[in-house]
Amino acid sequence: MIIASNFKTNHTRKSTREFVLQVEEFVSKTDSSVQARIYPAATALDNFEVDSSIKVGAQNFYPTCKGSYTGEIGFEQLQEFEVDSVLIGHSERRYVLKESSELILKKFDFAKEQGVEILFCVGEPKEIREAGIDAVMAYVWKQFDGIDLDYDRLVIAYEPVWAIGTGLTASNEDIKEVLKRLRESIQKPLLYGGSVKVDNVGDILDIENCDGVLVGTASWTAEAFCKMIEAAQKNGEK
Ligand code: 13P
Repeated sequence: MIIASNFKTNHTRKSTREFVLQVEEFVSKTDSSVQARIYPAATALDNFEVDSSIKVGAQNFYPTCKGSYTGEIGFEQLQEFEVDSVLIGHSERRYVLKESSELILKKFDFAKEQGVEILFCVGEPKEIREAGIDAVMAYVWKQFDGIDLDYDRLVIAYEPVWAIGTGLTASNEDIKEVLKRLRESIQKPLLYGGSVKVDNVGDILDIENCDGVLVGTASWTAEAFCKMIEAAQKNGEK
């Protein structure tokens, strides 16, 4: 099970450190196979000394080691903090920041070459969901065009755009159906994301083929995030 927190544009360097240390303290007291991922703002990355089940990763990077890309961060800068996990294809980057499929693919190939864990996000907007499950799957499969689904450090996050930051979680049936169809061709961990909360995380983790969650808003306090890790630990004991 993977429980991941995407900080988006939240937390400072100081509060990120406090968060990471609190999670570390919680995890070190337990003995479980749950993997935690924390994606802070780039300015808050650091050489955190944490348990091997916790990775502090990058929300974004430019597909280069270094170079002249004003305002961007390359792998040389990420490696300074031993970043070993990256998010690619998040809907906010696709739709708000207008990142193209071409750039997303370049990022994927570059991160793969670097050998880091890739948490690759896919998901459909509302009008596609309204057109039914076949339209959803056609849309999602298109987002995988060119992506090497056999990359051994690949993790997939299914995050319907209309469920992100809206308080609207996809129904368990909808999540189940999408994960089932993804599972037919993908043998990698499959996460769900989109308005996951402490109250519903247990039920979501119970869904067949669900290997974890990628959480925004409801994971931004260490207390809540640790509760979600705890729910995954309980799920693993079933
Ligand atoms: P929310 O949990 O705020 O809906 O965000 C989900 C998300 O975008 C995680 O990457």
